[in-house]
Amino acid sequence: NADKVIAIDGPAGSGKSSISKAVARRLGYGYLDTGAAYRALAWHVLERGADTADESAVLAAADDFPLRQGLDADDRRVFVGDAEVTDAIRDPRVSAAVSGVARVLDVRARVNDAFRRMVAEAAFPAVVVEGRDITTVVAPDAPVRILLTASPEVRAARRAGELSEQDVAAVADAIRRRDGADSAVVDFLTAAEGVEVVDSSDLDFDQTIDAVLAVIDRRA
Ligand code: C5P
Repeated sequence: NADKVIAIDGPAGSGKSSISKAVARRLGYGYLDTGAAYRALAWHVLERGADTADESAVLAAADDFPLRQGLDADDRRVFVGDAEVTDAIRDPRVSAAVSGVARVLDVRARVNDAFRRMVAEAAFPAVVVEGRDITTVVAPDAPVRILLTASPEVRAARRAGELSEQDVAAVADAIRRRDGADSAVVDFLTAAEGVEVVDSSDLDFDQTIDAVLAVIDRRA
């Protein structure tokens, strides 16, 4: 099923969510935001009152995790059971907790199985799957594998703009902390063999979409 995957990895604030979504829409493909799944799991752990530093508590939460997430780029709602968590998973409280949850390797194995199942069952001809370890772990055999990067300054500025926050330095700090924690688990800052780098530092949104579409054209 890896041949159905357009794999896009990148760090926080690289623009990979909005770019992946736009590319999926343009091509009529599905879209899977794997970060949203990890965020929903972190929300679920916090909701249960469990300690995100307690690996067995995190694993227990992952084993009882009724995630509902669609593949439609125009329907970004995420549910855990009956609770809609679409907005809640963007909360700074969740952002701060998510790396701890994503660090547990048995959790990653379970979550990855769920991602692969979703792609296999997808009603789309292909699915743009976006995350940190899609090009290397989830779908290393995908025909199209892209690492979307941007300089730390550009990423912080974009993220701060998104949040309409004044303090770019504080945002830069939070991103640096999360990237640091995340890259201890998966390396998403250097491209693995065969992975194409798209650096969006000097590209605007449409130029970045075109750069990604050009790679897909060449590879798919
Ligand atoms: O992409 P986003 O910033 O929403 O991801 C949230 C978090 O989920 C990341 O900081 C990382 O801890 C985790 N994640 C991951 N592997 C992925 C996608 C996200 O560990 N494939």
